[in-house]
Amino acid sequence: MKGKFITLEGIDGVGKTTQLELLKIFAHEKSKDNWIFTRNPGGTELGIELREILLNNQTLRVTPLAETLLYIADRAEHISKFVIPALEEDTIIICDRFIDSTVAYQGYGRGLNIANIHKLNEIAIQGIKPDLTILFDADPSISFQRAKSRGQSGDKIEAEGLEFQKKIRAGFLEIAQLEPERFCIIDVAKKNPSEIHENVLKEIEKIIT
Ligand SMILES: Nc1ncnc2c1ncn2[C@@H]1O[C@H](COP(=O)(O)OP(=O)(O)OP(=O)(O)O)[C@@H](O)[C@H]1O
Ligand SMILES: [Mg+2]
Repeated sequence: MKGKFITLEGIDGVGKTTQLELLKIFAHEKSKDNWIFTRNPGGTELGIELREILLNNQTLRVTPLAETLLYIADRAEHISKFVIPALEEDTIIICDRFIDSTVAYQGYGRGLNIANIHKLNEIAIQGIKPDLTILFDADPSISFQRAKSRGQSGDKIEAEGLEFQKKIRAGFLEIAQLEPERFCIIDVAKKNPSEIHENVLKEIEKIIT
């Protein structure tokens, strides 16, 4: 594969989408036309439908296993139809959430078997692992406040509270420890978005130059 695949991870409200948007502006200003941006769930026609079901449907109650399989279905479609074709060109793909969110939320958070989630992820990604995963880390009391002030109470995950977020954060940190060569952890608790953006750019430059 000629391109590079970069994923942004971390608990709710930690600043993933903010950083993705800052990278979009950077890419636009520097005419980096080969940088493309996407997200999980999403990025394909099926992904858009699944995103609606998984994050915005207020009434549907889905079991943790079914929920996991929907994330996996989104991922399989996204890898086949979006990521692989893009990586065959000389592109830098930056993706808001990916495999690690499923392990952290559905495994560490909801208590599904973590080894099984790894297996499902492996099937879905068809050999395409991120070249770099940036984990934004902060205490949930900080990110939760940020997420709440944004006022998106419709997001089902955010509605589940601080204790859930603590489990997810611990999960992300454990996942990162297991694969230190893929992960870069940025402590975002006391940094403003532009400082974090500078850190992110440095990490991206390391793998593309
Ligand atoms: N470094 C920062 N300092 C203070 N506020 C921030 C910082 N980064 C982002 N924010 C604010 O925090 C809120 C949540 O940020 P953002 O939507 O980027 O988080 P997220 O990680 O994408 O969350 P989610 O997982 O729910 O999509 C936004 O209102 C954003 O403006
Ligand atoms: Mg976001």
